[in-house]
Amino acid sequence: MEFSQQLAAHQARIEEALAACVQEFPAHGQLKEAMGYSLLSGGKRIRPVLVLEVCRLFGGQVEQALPFACALEMVHTYSLIHDDLPCMDDDDLRRGKPTCHKVYGEALAVLAGDGLLTAAFGVLSGAALAPEQICRGTACLAKAAGPAGMVGGQVLDLLGEGKDLEYQEIVAIESLKTGCMIEAAARLGAIAAGSTQAQEEAAADYARKIGLAFQVRDDVLDVLGDQEELGKPIGSDQEKEKSTFVALKGVEACERLIQELTQAAVEQLRPYPGSGFLCSLARQLASRTK
Ligand code: IPE
Ligand code: IPE
Ligand code: MG
Ligand code: MG
Ligand code: MG
Repeated sequence: MEFSQQLAAHQARIEEALAACVQEFPAHGQLKEAMGYSLLSGGKRIRPVLVLEVCRLFGGQVEQALPFACALEMVHTYSLIHDDLPCMDDDDLRRGKPTCHKVYGEALAVLAGDGLLTAAFGVLSGAALAPEQICRGTACLAKAAGPAGMVGGQVLDLLGEGKDLEYQEIVAIESLKTGCMIEAAARLGAIAAGSTQAQEEAAADYARKIGLAFQVRDDVLDVLGDQEELGKPIGSDQEKEKSTFVALKGVEACERLIQELTQAAVEQLRPYPGSGFLCSLARQLASRTK
């Protein structure tokens, strides 16, 4: 199957499974509506696609990895809802629509995020996998999303506002706030497949590299992107005086770094038969415009 067909097939499976998850949420006031509004609003689904594809690469049943994939996308969506709040990046547009707090108010947006984060672990725990795999998946997602991962990175990101951070400090922030969740995607796929430790580490290394490249590209798009296409505001980082790669090094240096990271990621997986999709995905993400 061609790359674009395979990508569309993964995305369709994920959309269907996420919609089924939303159906299970109870309707207290507008809680279910607010959670569904953000979750089913057309994100690129890169993280869950990675879960499914890494699982397939290492010989697992894609269907069995779906709860892991959905759980990760739910945690990611919660992180976006909170990231957009006035107390954080204060943005009004996400995935081409008004942000959750603009539609439902701040309190419900906080709670919709909390709801998605918590429900994610329920979804993960319901996977039709061995208890040991579920246990490892839980630990993996908790670590990536929590203080040692995304949440820690978000704190450093806020602390960095208005400061001139050094290159390595920015690498640390961007790896934590974005890289960890993308690395978790690869690990969850490997765990669902029952892969060897060496396979999991190879996929994790690939994902760490594309994860950092992904955030550097995000920073570039915040300067050069098209709001309509991106579905979120441009210039948000500059307005908040974020300390990003693009602010420190400029666009050309970022493009070079993205290419280097992507090349290294591809090299990491090339020895594995059937890794063509993941190599194409890395290259496509490197030049993405949304
Ligand atoms: C946005 O992530 C936040 C970052 C970590 C850069 P995505 O670019 O994957 O956003 P969606 O999920 O497609 O909306
Ligand atoms: C990543 O950083 C956000 C999360 C980890 C949720 P950004 O703040 O740059 O993401 P965008 O640009 O708002 O999507
Ligand atoms: Mg942010
Ligand atoms: Mg933001
Ligand atoms: Mg950004």
